[in-house]
Amino acid sequence: MGNTVTITYNGQQYEYPIVEGTMGDIAVDISKLRGETGLITLDAGYKNTGSCVSNITFLDGEEGKLLYRGYPIEQLAEKSTFVEVMYLLLEGELPNQQQLADWKSTLNEYNFVNERVEKILNGFPSEAHPMGVLASLTSALTAFNPKSVDPSKHTDMYHAAARLIAKFDILCAWTYRKSNNLEIVKPDTSLDYVTNFYQMMFKKDDNFEINPVIVNAIDKLLILHADHEQNCSASAVRLVGSSHAGLFASISAGISALWGPLHGGANQAVIEMLEMIKKDGGGLQKWVDKAKDKEDNFRLMGFGHRVYKNMDPRAKIIKKAADDVLDQLGIDDEVLDLARGLEEVALRDEYFVERKLYPNVDFYSGIIYRALGIPAEMFTVMFALGRLPGWISQWKEMRQNGEPIGRPRQVYQGATTRDYVDISNR
Ligand code: CMC
Repeated sequence: MGNTVTITYNGQQYEYPIVEGTMGDIAVDISKLRGETGLITLDAGYKNTGSCVSNITFLDGEEGKLLYRGYPIEQLAEKSTFVEVMYLLLEGELPNQQQLADWKSTLNEYNFVNERVEKILNGFPSEAHPMGVLASLTSALTAFNPKSVDPSKHTDMYHAAARLIAKFDILCAWTYRKSNNLEIVKPDTSLDYVTNFYQMMFKKDDNFEINPVIVNAIDKLLILHADHEQNCSASAVRLVGSSHAGLFASISAGISALWGPLHGGANQAVIEMLEMIKKDGGGLQKWVDKAKDKEDNFRLMGFGHRVYKNMDPRAKIIKKAADDVLDQLGIDDEVLDLARGLEEVALRDEYFVERKLYPNVDFYSGIIYRALGIPAEMFTVMFALGRLPGWISQWKEMRQNGEPIGRPRQVYQGATTRDYVDISNR
């Protein structure tokens, strides 16, 4: 027998096999634990729990390493495009020229939404948070695409993914236009995916010119956000999908999970925090001290990560991209200076050093979005647009592996058995 873990309980020994990953991950397979011993494991927040075996994304939080299907994020951000990375995540391999051309043309084929979706959009008040609108519209798409997907059929899955991706950029852009009381701009299929999204977001009139610096920065950010293995929103997508709920409904759950400020919503929270620091002043150390104070709810948004205990590799790339974009657009942003200063103070502080709290992807992405003229409430929508191919890939893998319905157990500590008391006697 290979390597095993032995558990001793009630004087008896039980052996459990070790499962090894291709990049050095090791896990103990306890799927027979309860049946054999009556024990369950308890791990709030799943800090040490692997929920699946996956072939999509590898990350090493100690080394600050991130790979999509084996390719380092640094190489993909520099050499690839978001359209190509979407194909890589979904299909498992980089496309050849013909496959890429087919993928682009399939995306174009589905790049429209039913006009009744526009009516649903108009039903929302303009002050509604764009993430709430996006989650609702994504769920609503099911009504207009009722055919359920058979994940075991490649063509079915390929087209379902393309359909959702091709409609999602429209929903994201229109959500933005709506919240800014702007007329919606229809898709232009003569443009590539990211440029088309950009014009749907920003086109003001017929004199609108495409700025390649901005399109390039958006493309890079979308690549960096495209997947991140079993995070909160991907796990939500897999969990909802494990009940065999449809693809669109499962993705809508992922959007809601991403919205929270401890997850994707942190990019909006970072800018709001930096603006508060700018307004209230008092020096950066004051804010670092507040974040360290356990009596104070304030946390440094954009710092820390469940898995990275080293610099988030995406943050490194984004920090450099933020510098480039601001330079090229000739923007001098006081908030960026504050961000740089805060990073410096925090990284020298014992509290942050001891806990290995480094800036994460959200710390710098908001600064680029701001420089591009995207309002803070839209930042998490940008994250969602990037993460969509990752969510779909996770959903597809979970269904194709035939994973059982996700159903954690619990340790019950409530009242023990007692008899019902009639209301007159309470
Ligand atoms: N500011 C101050 N203290 C912090 C912070 C922070 N941002 N993050 C963690 N800590 C402290 C925390 O108080 C705890 O201290 P102690 O051990 O003394 O109790 C310790 O560090 C460990 O933190 P934790 O909350 O137990 O760690 P976690 O893995 O449960 O949480 C996190 C990870 C990302 C939710 C957390 O670091 C956080 O709230 N960060 C700010 C929000 C943020 O930037 N989120 C975006 C994450 S990256 C994008 C994404 O993938 O979603």
